[in-house]
Order: sequence, then C-alpha cells, then structure tokens
Amino acid sequence: MSRVLSGIQPSGTLHIGNYFAMMKPMISMQTDNELFCFIVNYHAMTTLTDGKVLRQNTVDAAMDFLALGLDPDRAHFWVQSDVPEVAELTWILSCHTSLGLLERSHSYKDKLARGITPNTGLFTYPVLMAADILLYNAQIIPVGKDQKQHVEITRDIAIRFNNTYGDIFTIPEPSIQEDIAVIPGTDGQKMSKSYDNTINIFEDEKSLKKKVMKIVTDSTPVEDPKNPDTCTIFALYRLFADKDRIENLRDRYASGGTGYGEVKKELLGLIWEHFRPFREKREMYEKDRGEVINILKKGADKTRAVALPTLEKVKGAVGLNYC
Ligand code: ADP
Ligand code: TRP
Repeated sequence: MSRVLSGIQPSGTLHIGNYFAMMKPMISMQTDNELFCFIVNYHAMTTLTDGKVLRQNTVDAAMDFLALGLDPDRAHFWVQSDVPEVAELTWILSCHTSLGLLERSHSYKDKLARGITPNTGLFTYPVLMAADILLYNAQIIPVGKDQKQHVEITRDIAIRFNNTYGDIFTIPEPSIQEDIAVIPGTDGQKMSKSYDNTINIFEDEKSLKKKVMKIVTDSTPVEDPKNPDTCTIFALYRLFADKDRIENLRDRYASGGTGYGEVKKELLGLIWEHFRPFREKREMYEKDRGEVINILKKGADKTRAVALPTLEKVKGAVGLNYC
C-alpha cells in the first residue's frame, strides 16, 4: 500500500484533460492505496483574484470529485487552505530552495511567455507544491506530464533538506500516464482552463454539442483517407471508445469516405454516455451543498492529524522549537 497524493487547482471548471490525466487515475487508486486528494485553492490564488469565483470553483471541484466516485471515508479529501500548516512549511522550505531551481521552471517560463505579469506567488508556486507533498510524506504523485518538473523540484528540495537535517522527508516519485500525457483541447492545443479550449466534465448537452462541433480539423475531403495520429477528434475519441471501436475508426480513416462531422457526432454520444451516471450523482450533491462542506471539513481534520507530526519534526530540526 503506497501513499498517493495529488491536487487540482480550482482556477476554473474541471475538464476532460483533468479527468483522464488526474482525477480518474486518482479515484481508481483509492481502493489499494492510501489516497490524499485535495483542492489547491492557495495555488489557484496565483492567477485568480476574484474571491467569489474562487469560493464557487472550490465547492464545484469538490462536487466533481465526489460525483466521479471519490470516497471521502476511504481517502483523505480536503481543501488545501483548511490545513494552513502547509503555508508554514512553505516558508521553511523556501529558505532551503535556491533561486536558480525556481528560475528553471518550465511552467513559470511558459506563463511569462504568455504575457502574464507574475506575482511572487507564481514564482514560488513549486515550493508550495513541495510543501503539499512533503507535509504528508507522500510516495506517489499522479500528475499530467506538465507537472513532472514540479515533482522533480520537490525531490531536489527534499533531498537537500534531508542532507542538512537527517532523514525527515520521504522522497516522492511522479506517476505519469504516458499514453494520455497531453490531451488536446478543441483548438488542438493542450486542453487547459486558461486557454478557452476545454470540454468540461459536466457540460450541459447543448454546450457539449457546440464544443465538439467546433473541434478544429484539417481540410481533408470526406472521401479521402485521414491521418488519425494528427487528428484532434481521434485523440479525444480514443479516450472514450473501447479497443474495437478505436480500431474500427482507424480503418475508416485509412480507407476514406468518413467525414469529420460524422465522427464528431459519434464522439459527442460517447462523451455524453460516459459521464451520464456521474451527472446524476452530481445533481444530488448540488442540492445538498451543506453535506459537501461537511465532508470537506471532516476531511481537513483527518488530514491535519497527519500533517502536524511532520511539521513538528521539521520545526525541531531547523530550530524553531526553541523552548
Ligand atoms: P489546467 O491547465 O486546465 O489549469 P491544471 O494545471 O489545473 O489544469 O492541471 C490539473 C491536472 O490535470 C494536472 O495533473 C495536469 O497535469 C492535468 N492536466 C491538465 N490539463 C491536461 C491536459 N490537457 N492533458 C493532460 N493532463 C492535463
Ligand atoms: N500544481 C498542480 C497543478 O497545477 C496542482 C498541485 C498543487 C499538486 N499541489 C500539488 C499536484 C501536489 C500534485 C501534488 O496541476
């Protein structure tokens, strides 16, 4: 049994990229592992400055996880800021993190390249993520490929800290689903809450249809063969269809005569059916927000009990426990 931990930012509505890369693998691990799953609202603050939206997104993300099958009795399921000790550990770790390590972060450099005016929080974001992981002595971190470097930064920080103070932290390993490493959005770029190209998990039928129909394709005529490996519709289709159906579509692409419009309609049906049972459960939670808040508060209490001994150990090692 391993301790598996991952978090998701409530910076927008959760989409099928988040679902396949992070939420689904996490939920499937709850039976045979000790699962730590949380909503990282401190991280979302690096780019989101509307308190009302942050509040709403946080509870929405919790409802998404619960509807998709996360079991709060089995797992540790909480909101990051409900265990504020993580912010204390972030400060301690930041005093053991070189500037150069953070300057090499691809994710930070990408955000700068996109014209975001960075705040200090965006720059030190990987240290907060390291604190998230190390505070709970997590072993396995399931994330999308774009987050791999952050787990490597966490390892660097932990190894350095352990070299100075002794064996305090567990060194974590990233777990990446290579076959679905980057899920494309409707414009063919990486699907992301910040690119306006998402298909959300709990999209209503009308807007789901609109989004699927606007997926960008090349202009190969209906009768010509098509390349599945460069096709965004195919990349999404293979996430939802079974093996036989995927092979069948591959053959139809190779022989020509199948139009993109026809495949989009099939994809629409697959997505709608895939999330049908979860949608019903989500409606139930929407009607009982109080219950969702209760679950999160109970989850925070359970999680804090794991955090406190680690923090005490760290404070002892660095000399903050002066009495
Ligand atoms: P977003 O880019 O939409 O803001 P996050 O950065 O909050 O998404 O990512 C949450 C999790 O989902 C991370 O583990 C991330 O790697 C994964 N993820 C997000 N988008 C994709 C995608 N398009 N393909 C694969 N994984 C993704
Ligand atoms: N940075 C991650 C993301 O944007 C979210 C995250 C925060 C996280 N803390 C974490 C993921 C700890 C794994 C472990 O997706």
